[in-house]
Amino acid sequence: MKDIARQQMSMKVESMDMLNAQIQMEGRASASYLAMASWCDQRGYTRSAEFLYRQSAEEREHMMKIFKFVNDCGGNALSPEIKNIEHDFTSLEEIFETALAQEIEVTRSINNIIAFARKNNDFGVENFLQWFVSEQLEEEKNMRDILDLFELMGSEGVALKLIDERIPVE
Ligand code: FEO
Repeated sequence: MKDIARQQMSMKVESMDMLNAQIQMEGRASASYLAMASWCDQRGYTRSAEFLYRQSAEEREHMMKIFKFVNDCGGNALSPEIKNIEHDFTSLEEIFETALAQEIEVTRSINNIIAFARKNNDFGVENFLQWFVSEQLEEEKNMRDILDLFELMGSEGVALKLIDERIPVE
């Protein structure tokens, strides 16, 4: 990208680079949820599959929100290259444990960009990311609520079917 364009962006170059890394992370999260949905779909966990398909679509929306923001600020949004998605899971519980770990990682990354933006007076970026702070709280809570079901009902046999029936899908 031409240096002059980077200098005229309404965000710091470092913020743009961090946001491009976030685009990559959201794209990876979307692909990862799709793999989890497929695992559930093949094993008859229909509500879990539905929940994870939706989650995958949501992550793509997050990716596109950031993608558009970078370009709207005069930056250069980069289409992510996503490889090596995990498709092998040992249990339904592992799926949701992996999902929670993934969300915690995303939250950390968002917080990290906000901390940088704040320190460097990149207020547009800080303001833009506020929506993601609330969204991450919500997503982490959803995963913890589901993991509580395993705690409550167990993680074998008929409990799995009963848990699947309680997976929230609007
Ligand atoms: Fe967009 Fe749940 O990370």
